[in-house]
Amino acid sequence: MSLTTPLAPVPVASPMPAALEGRTVLIVGGSSGIGLAAGALLASVGARVALMARDAARLSAAAGGIRETTSAPVIELAGDGTDEGALEGAFDRLGQVDHVLVTAGGFAAGPLLETPRERVGQAVDGRIWGAYAAARAAAGRLPAGGSLTFSSGVYLSRPIPGASASIAAIGAVEGLTKALAVELAPRRLRVNAIRYGVVDTPLARGAFGLADDAAMAAAGQGAPLGRFATAEEAASAALFLMANGYVTGSVITVDGGQSLA
Ligand SMILES: NC(=O)c1ccc[n+]([C@@H]2O[C@H](COP(=O)([O-])OP(=O)(O)OC[C@H]3O[C@@H](n4cnc5c(N)ncnc54)[C@H](OP(=O)(O)O)[C@@H]3O)[C@@H](O)[C@H]2O)c1
Repeated sequence: MSLTTPLAPVPVASPMPAALEGRTVLIVGGSSGIGLAAGALLASVGARVALMARDAARLSAAAGGIRETTSAPVIELAGDGTDEGALEGAFDRLGQVDHVLVTAGGFAAGPLLETPRERVGQAVDGRIWGAYAAARAAAGRLPAGGSLTFSSGVYLSRPIPGASASIAAIGAVEGLTKALAVELAPRRLRVNAIRYGVVDTPLARGAFGLADDAAMAAAGQGAPLGRFATAEEAASAALFLMANGYVTGSVITVDGGQSLA
């Protein structure tokens, strides 16, 4: 289909997350943290969930954990979400895919003068081209009303020293979000991003050197709401963006006020 021949208007559907029942959602980065929490929430509302991540053993454990709580189908797709061919293979295997959530992406830090490009290259390239590759694989395959949701972070609006390349990369993803929202609107596809504050996940615990629940709780006391977000709180924003057919080109902030304090 040409982008110059618009479809009928985006379909009207219930904007409640329960309306995702029976929909298929591909989560690129689904074996841990926010992506895994999104998978569990989606399964709880009856969606067919496909989790993609590189480490097959961790992926299998994550999918098994969701299956213990629901009878909804949970599909494991071991692969690299920055590889467009792997993404296309995932779409082909799944047949129908209604929504894509990309939570893959690491955090590469280091002061500018001590951190050459090679040290940040993989994380930065992976974040930008991972989002781009997911969009390329999805754009011709999602149905009208389908959506793509990318991940960003509040360091974009409230930077910390020593993370310039990672912060630049999330800025690129937010730019991509808005540009693709415009470009893919004639296909009646929606593209959004979520700007997270600190969320209690393996990524955050590793990045901040927080070894256990007590250390996480202590660190979170300085946040405006007295703690950091749970992965489930962060993930629920993704369900909102999938379910609400009139949101596109938006960056939703889920940061407990961290960008204000
Ligand atoms: N947690 C926070 O405080 C926070 C704050 C701001 C933004 N974010 C962003 O939110 C997103 C989710 O973060 P999180 O805390 O949930 O991270 P996480 O717990 O580390 O989970 C990341 C997931 O992505 C997968 N992954 C990473 N690279 C991948 C690749 N190339 N292909 C396929 N899967 C890949 C990982 O599995 P494998 O390694 O096995 O592939 C894992 O399942 C990230 O983009 C992160 O930068 C997080």
